[in-house]
Amino acid sequence: MEAECALRDNVLQVNASKNIGVLISGRGSNLKAIIDAIADGRLNASILIVISNRADAPGLDHAHRAGIETLVLRHTAFAAREDYDRALVKELQDRGVGLVCLAGFMRLLSPVFVDAFPDRILNIHPSLLPKYPGLHPQQQALDDGAAVSGATVHIVNKDLDAGPIVLQREVSVVPGDTADTLGARILSVEHRLYPDAIRLVLERGR
Ligand code: GRF
Repeated sequence: MEAECALRDNVLQVNASKNIGVLISGRGSNLKAIIDAIADGRLNASILIVISNRADAPGLDHAHRAGIETLVLRHTAFAAREDYDRALVKELQDRGVGLVCLAGFMRLLSPVFVDAFPDRILNIHPSLLPKYPGLHPQQQALDDGAAVSGATVHIVNKDLDAGPIVLQREVSVVPGDTADTLGARILSVEHRLYPDAIRLVLERGR
């Protein structure tokens, strides 16, 4: 059962433009949710490019179907993390991206990237941060015996999953939950939360 409450609304005054770049590594269901929100008129923004670090990311198909430019930038082609991040920054800046949305992008970002988009990078994480940062947050919640977990959209800074929180929503843990069943319920909440959070950031932005 999902508790429909936005726990926090600590949106900073973010200088964000409506031109979004989305970074993915896999399934891309959050990307799809953002595409749908824009198409439905629930979110006034444009996705200028979707970049994946993996050529086989199924999420690229969502972008193709929506007619959004895609780019595969393989991290394995770069010797150092910073070199890869510099290439990412260039591709985003060349297209005039003002707000970067991480949507299942399985790469740590170096200061090179974070400094290029100060307070203009969002991430979605399947827990109520600051609880359960990092990998396997659904399993972390179960191991901890939590009664409630959820999803968080936050601004990315140099510390992992630790930037200012934009929006959170709770999801109850139910008896018998596995990481998969809890994760699936959290994911359906994520799909509404991410567009809501982007809208909040853009509306509050300068
Ligand atoms: C989501 O659970 C998101 O919170 C996490 O990675 C997953 C990505 O899923 N950061 P998808 O690729 O958007 O379907």
